[in-house]
Amino acid sequence: MAMAVACSFLLLVLPVALAAAQPMQSFSASDTAWSPTETNRTLVSNNGDFAAGFLPSSSSSSSSSGGKYRFAVWVNASDSRTVIWYAHDSTSYTAVEADRNSSLAIDAAGKLSWTVAGTNTTLLLWPSNSTTMTLNDSGSLVHGAWSSFREPTDTLMPLQSIPGANTTTLQSQNGRFNLVNSLTLQHGDSMYANITAALRNLTPDGTLQLSGVSPLIASDKGSTRLRRLTLDDDGNLRLYSLQPRTRQWRVVWQLVQELCTIRGACRGAATICVPEGADSTTCVCPPGYRQQPRGIDAGCAPKKKYSGNGKDDKFVRMDFVAFSGGADTAALDPGKYMSKLSPQNLADCENKCRDNAGCVAFGYKFGGDRTCLHYTRLVDGYWSPATEMSTYLRVVASDKDTNNFTGMTSMIDTVCPVRLALPVPPKQGRTTIRNIAIITALFAVELLAGVLSFWAFLRKYSQYREMARTLGLEYLPAGGPRRFSYAELKAATKDFSDAVGRGAYGTVYRGELPDRRAVAVKQLHGVGGGEAEFWAEVTIIARMHHLNLVRMWGFCADKEQRMLVYEYVPNGSLDKYLFAGGTSAESGDGDKKKPLLDLHTRYRIALGVARAIAYLHEECLEWVLHCDIKPENILLEDDFCPKVSDFGLSKLTSKKEKVTMSRIRGTRGYMAPEWVIHREPITAKADVYSFGMVLLEIVSGRRNYGFRQDSVGSEDWYFPKWAFEKVYVERRIDDIIDPRIVQAEAYEDDDASVATVERMVKTAMWCLQDRADMRPSMGKVAKMLEGTVEITEPVKPTIFCVQDD
Ligand SMILES: *[C@@H]1O[C@H](CO)[C@@H](O)[C@H](O)[C@H]1NC(C)=O
Ligand SMILES: *[C@@H]1O[C@H](CO)[C@@H](O)[C@H](O)[C@H]1NC(C)=O
Ligand SMILES: *[C@@H]1O[C@H](CO)[C@@H](O)[C@H](O)[C@H]1NC(C)=O
Ligand SMILES: *[C@@H]1O[C@H](CO)[C@@H](O)[C@H](O)[C@H]1NC(C)=O
Ligand SMILES: *[C@@H]1O[C@H](CO)[C@@H](O)[C@H](O)[C@H]1NC(C)=O
Ligand SMILES: *[C@@H]1O[C@H](CO)[C@@H](O)[C@H](O)[C@H]1NC(C)=O
Ligand SMILES: *[C@@H]1O[C@H](CO)[C@@H](O)[C@H](O)[C@H]1NC(C)=O
Ligand SMILES: *[C@@H]1O[C@H](CO)[C@@H](O)[C@H](O)[C@H]1NC(C)=O
Ligand SMILES: *[C@@H]1O[C@H](CO)[C@@H](O)[C@H](O)[C@H]1NC(C)=O
Repeated sequence: MAMAVACSFLLLVLPVALAAAQPMQSFSASDTAWSPTETNRTLVSNNGDFAAGFLPSSSSSSSSSGGKYRFAVWVNASDSRTVIWYAHDSTSYTAVEADRNSSLAIDAAGKLSWTVAGTNTTLLLWPSNSTTMTLNDSGSLVHGAWSSFREPTDTLMPLQSIPGANTTTLQSQNGRFNLVNSLTLQHGDSMYANITAALRNLTPDGTLQLSGVSPLIASDKGSTRLRRLTLDDDGNLRLYSLQPRTRQWRVVWQLVQELCTIRGACRGAATICVPEGADSTTCVCPPGYRQQPRGIDAGCAPKKKYSGNGKDDKFVRMDFVAFSGGADTAALDPGKYMSKLSPQNLADCENKCRDNAGCVAFGYKFGGDRTCLHYTRLVDGYWSPATEMSTYLRVVASDKDTNNFTGMTSMIDTVCPVRLALPVPPKQGRTTIRNIAIITALFAVELLAGVLSFWAFLRKYSQYREMARTLGLEYLPAGGPRRFSYAELKAATKDFSDAVGRGAYGTVYRGELPDRRAVAVKQLHGVGGGEAEFWAEVTIIARMHHLNLVRMWGFCADKEQRMLVYEYVPNGSLDKYLFAGGTSAESGDGDKKKPLLDLHTRYRIALGVARAIAYLHEECLEWVLHCDIKPENILLEDDFCPKVSDFGLSKLTSKKEKVTMSRIRGTRGYMAPEWVIHREPITAKADVYSFGMVLLEIVSGRRNYGFRQDSVGSEDWYFPKWAFEKVYVERRIDDIIDPRIVQAEAYEDDDASVATVERMVKTAMWCLQDRADMRPSMGKVAKMLEGTVEITEPVKPTIFCVQDD
């Protein structure tokens, strides 16, 4: 009997529960009031992409009241229930949260309100009349004339009209960051980034329309994907697109490239934000400071106080570190805790700080306008090469903390010796000395010219001399890329008369700036986008500083013209040294006999190139694929220090072309198998493959495909496979080495040389693996070449993919 009662009770209850869990197409006056506890009751859009309903609030603790609830709209099509809107106070942006005893209802007159039962407290009242509420296919809750699209929270959806000037457009969910006037990102009063122009509209195919300038473009523009533009809790504005297969969001555009430049990235006083990979940051204390007991958010304080009379303190140099000085509008305008001085030099800047007891640190920028900043408090510290300055922190003289911010010197401390103190490479027998004699004779004139113009340059910018003295280098961080006019470059290149190269991206002309700097001007073809976009990309390229990357000095974006101005690298490209009878179609000194590169120089070139590409892949905050690594794109300095050129240019080609172009842009013979055959996405591992091919060519002095034609002839002959057999099967490494090296009278078949060649060839074998995931990262490749990691035996490369065009 008891059983029967229980069963009929269940039968009564079940249909009700099921009905409540059914997704609703609309919510209307005839429906029962909607309680937050009905978390399975949802309002869905027609297309099923969006859903609305109550969600337990993550912010409130569930301890006392049994939890609070928000009324939210989320993307049903994503795996992670991404909330795109929640009911909130439209001026303060605070989410409306309520207990389980509240409910949402529409009365007969069409008034929609969220009230607390038993009282007359109304949490929220939609300012419109309609007896139904629906969720439309764009993700907007629509109730009469009101729609959630008119009151965005942290997210904008395609087709959502964007509020105009004088408003906060978006606020991050944690309430710390705002997008103001559809234009500026702010943390409190501190601005930290601007969109090029006010945002107008996000289109479904992935462009951000801006007022008056050309739009910003998602990296997957054109595909029909669900998209959202969100001001994330880390303060960055990102455009996401939903990958249909994985149902995960992918970032396809973001405003801030270096997260540490976001104000408030670290909360505590005197903390310094340091990037950890491309998408995360960490906060650390400067040397001489320790974390406050309540954790890093509470900030850092000096371990020991100095007296302030300038007798018991010292300055610790932190490279690439800057502080904001509190609220300010532009990066270098003095803030509350910062003043800008115009000193004679570094010592002057330091003395003025020491004389001021309240000065806790000073910042000094070597290049450009010789900025000196005095800080009275350390706010919003961050590390970024883009600061191009060092902060000198005042600490007690007895402080012995290790300083982790020594980026400038470590950047300089790479494979390549500095030109002014041209060192003799480690001893390699008589060949090297003879080669140096040849090299010196050949390039004495250029060297002299280089040194002269360098000193002329130093005289002109005397602050560089000081920097050269402090750091022992002549590489000068300049104040961002300079903008040249078309007329200036026309004059510098004598009306583009001296073409020195032609590449995939355009023609290169040699020129000379009025200050006598020799430059290479690259006139780009097929670069899309407007000036603002070009400028933004160029700024990113200009930030990439590495001794083994060709330095970009400036650019030109006049009307249709797009040009990049690089330092001139005198010795031309590696292919002319490696391959007899250089093949590149160049005017000028193509026929001049090039000296034979000895083994040691080849090794140094390989290592330098590996480090430069590793830097592009791993250390650059903006992740950059080169996509066209080949000997033609490796330029050589006077002392054969290699400089990789054409990096970052794949970012410049117009996005529309990119989809189709990227497949064919690579150079035959250097393209990874997945690029040619499988049509898989191209990753950093494609660069690793190209580098492996270049490495084999450096060792062998033969073109990977030329070799095939003239010596072996068989159709399926494949250089990597052949080299693999020589190393691991026949154990005849000598067969791979450039015969010219072996025949050179001074070639010493000693253990060290053999080990070097072996390391280069074995590393190449790993780079040339058929499967991209088997290839090591570029950082690992550099380590393999250095000999700091053991090189195990790889799988034999088999895929033959030299494409005939
Ligand atoms: C909601 O649905 C899930 C499964 O679909 C179920 O496990 C859960 O008990 C339901 N919750 C409520 C409150 O009905
Ligand atoms: C939400 O997404 C799931 C998974 O794709 C789907 O099964 C479900 O039908 C969707 N909900 C609605 C109401 O369309
Ligand atoms: C609603 O519930 C909360 C806790 O669950 C309680 O504190 C509050 O008094 C309730 N309000 C009414 C009107 O019942
Ligand atoms: C709610 O308001 C109505 C009319 O405005 C009033 O009659 C009623 O007493 C109020 N109830 C409470 C609990 O305040
Ligand atoms: C709602 O309807 C009432 C009368 O039905 C009208 O007075 C009021 O102006 C309407 N409000 C809005 C926002 O449309
Ligand atoms: C959904 O509603 C918003 C706001 O009313 C409107 O801008 C948008 O065009 C609507 N989308 C669709 C697919 O009807
Ligand atoms: C924004 O505010 C400024 C000053 O308060 C005012 O001059 C300007 O007209 C406003 N712009 C708009 C579009 O309301
Ligand atoms: C410097 O880095 C090392 C290792 O990452 C760390 O142990 C040390 O605490 C750091 N020093 C400072 C002053 O942050
Ligand atoms: C953003 O733009 C405003 C107005 O154009 C300018 O005052 C401000 O310095 C800019 N801020 C940044 C971080 O670029």
